[in-house]
Amino acid sequence: MASKGNVMFNFLLVSVTIIVCSVLKLRFIPFNNEIKRSLGYPIDSLLNFTELSELYGYTSEEHTVLTEDGYILTIFRINGRNCGHKLKRPPILLMHGLLQSSDAWLDAGPKVGLAYLLSDACYDLWVGNQRGNYYSRRHNRLDPDKDPEFWQFSVDEIGYYDIPATIEYVLKYTREDKLNYIGYSQGAGTFFVMCSERPGYCDKANVFIGLAPAARQTNTKSVPYKILLEGVRYLEGALATTGLYELFAKGSLSQEILAFLCKSSATSEVLCGTGESLVDSFHPGSINNETLRVLFGHFPAGTSVHNIARYGQSVKSSHFQKFDYGSARNLEIYGTEQPPHYNLSAVTVPTVVLYGSNDHLVDTKDILWLIKRLPKVLENKRVSDPLWNHFDSAYSQYTREMIFPTINKYLLKYSRKLNKV
Ligand SMILES: *[C@@H]1O[C@H](CO)[C@@H](O)[C@H](O)[C@H]1NC(C)=O
Ligand SMILES: *[C@@H]1O[C@H](CO)[C@@H](O)[C@H](O)[C@H]1NC(C)=O
Ligand SMILES: *[C@@H]1O[C@H](CO)[C@@H](O)[C@H](O)[C@H]1NC(C)=O
Repeated sequence: MASKGNVMFNFLLVSVTIIVCSVLKLRFIPFNNEIKRSLGYPIDSLLNFTELSELYGYTSEEHTVLTEDGYILTIFRINGRNCGHKLKRPPILLMHGLLQSSDAWLDAGPKVGLAYLLSDACYDLWVGNQRGNYYSRRHNRLDPDKDPEFWQFSVDEIGYYDIPATIEYVLKYTREDKLNYIGYSQGAGTFFVMCSERPGYCDKANVFIGLAPAARQTNTKSVPYKILLEGVRYLEGALATTGLYELFAKGSLSQEILAFLCKSSATSEVLCGTGESLVDSFHPGSINNETLRVLFGHFPAGTSVHNIARYGQSVKSSHFQKFDYGSARNLEIYGTEQPPHYNLSAVTVPTVVLYGSNDHLVDTKDILWLIKRLPKVLENKRVSDPLWNHFDSAYSQYTREMIFPTINKYLLKYSRKLNKV
């Protein structure tokens, strides 16, 4: 049994290696999926959203959303096994967190993955992908491999462009006026950005359900997470001079090493489970071996250096505010020396918040700060399991008991039965 200190040391060693290799732009020699299969990678970790959902008997569709500023996002629609054309309406949009993709909602498997639970309850479920991850690494003019401009985005732009464009697309396709929105962490924070900055869009949701919603992050406890964020924040300029604008992409050295180390049951819990716990907090058994083996095939999914730097600012600030470029550039961009705060009073949609007491990434204090500012909170619920942490909302094997009932209760309240369009 590896001691905690030992694992911490290995974890740091791997982290340092990854950062050094990223800067040097070393790439892992990519194995193809056939080789990976023979090396013992679980099949689920090698499949994409449509392949994986179809493997378990669900129907899914791939859709393409174009944002006003030219980003091309791939989103998915997934329908349950026993619903036929009897789907509840309106549609639901489920949005992932930082460094994730739509696949996060499948990684825990068909008994507990939130996308499976929702589609088996016959909701018309749409699953988003934010700019920069492997499903949304495209632009109608910019080349992500050549144009640094592609990577000049953070939650500020995701909230301003991606969330509204995705909502518009789903509403138009399903010929509905409104949808119900579930946002996890960054998927919730970006919804707040939209409500603050894009009048009219917030009301396109009947109900907003926030899972560990990330607005301000003043009280984040996780030391490795803070070191990473603040490191990237200080190094953003230096990394740009080396040509590094993208971090933790799928297929990058960091993701390939994680996928490799986590693929076998023998090491997944000891190494990857412990690593995950050191970044977040300990919740033994909640994210099981099988899920750990699978999720690192889809995580990290990639984002911009700029977005990570933005988080580096948000753990240092006591506000939920726009990117801080320093007073001179702030004055140019915003007309004020300090970056403007987001207006949480503009989140006028009925809101439900679910959070865990053991979340070391989005701390309870920051959740309570947020709840106080949201004008229409129907319910704010601390998950009854005292060890519920940040990653549990996406990957726990207890999702069905711990968070799904509350999610389902509010979705039902804001749904009706209709045939599929
Ligand atoms: C998923 O995999 C299938 C089968 O290989 C492929 O046709 C499809 O384009 C993939 N979808 C995405 C979004 O990568
Ligand atoms: C998960 O890993 C732990 C530690 O290696 C092991 O004791 C346990 O049996 C594993 N569980 C499964 C389902 O493989
Ligand atoms: C914030 O939003 C609310 C609700 O839309 C609005 O009444 C208020 O004027 C806004 N505050 C600012 C500072 O823009």
